[in-house]
Amino acid sequence: MTSPVVIAIDGPSGSGKSSVSKAVAARLGLAYLDTGAMYRAATVWSMETADLDDAVSVATAVRAMPLVMGLDPEAPGVELDGRDVAVTIRSTEVTTNVSKVASNLEVRSELKRLQRQIIDQESSAAQAVHSGGRGIVAEGRDITTVVAPDADARVLLTASEEARLRRRSLEVHGAADATAVDATRDQVLRRDRDDAKVTQFHVAADGVATVDSSDLDFEQTVDAVLAVVAQVTGRE
Ligand code: DC
Repeated sequence: MTSPVVIAIDGPSGSGKSSVSKAVAARLGLAYLDTGAMYRAATVWSMETADLDDAVSVATAVRAMPLVMGLDPEAPGVELDGRDVAVTIRSTEVTTNVSKVASNLEVRSELKRLQRQIIDQESSAAQAVHSGGRGIVAEGRDITTVVAPDADARVLLTASEEARLRRRSLEVHGAADATAVDATRDQVLRRDRDDAKVTQFHVAADGVATVDSSDLDFEQTVDAVLAVVAQVTGRE
């Protein structure tokens, strides 16, 4: 049996990170962890049980958050206090507030602890809840640098601003004409700016491979990431 593998993938919003990471995990039979979904769940929980403008109250709430992350790349679930919040965490209200919660350093420290726990568990054959100990793909903004700097394969998935806006616009508005792209621009760029204050995901850290998806379609991007993984881990 091959030893478990940990694959870390970071990138800005609209880089295609989530769908590519899920496909890579599914292709290799690994668990999948969406750390952005954890920050989004922490935002929902804080909106429900804390004062969003009070950093201490948000940190206290997040430390007690009853969160269960589903790790199946084909159906990654997010449960908060037994409720399925997979749809709620993608709402505009949550997207608007998430940077505020994600910039709380106490929140980051708690979520980093939970993320490491899940990664350790999935890379242990005895405790793995999804992958049977084959390993995990974890994606976010600080996985290659802070959460799993020792991952077997580390990838920064980038795309030009134009490509990212076009993809986000298609996702949110179902169109990528000039009006739809303009409507997306403010939200994407503001969130990038806010996220960049606490995480560094535009430039690859030492030892992190960059895959630029600007001119690649989905399958080509998945293949490019799989090629990096095969090169550094021998896993295909
Ligand atoms: O990838 P996403 O859009 O679902 O992420 C939601 C927010 O969480 C985003 O504003 C950045 C933040 N985030 C973070 O700070 N660190 C991570 N590892 C993942 C996400």
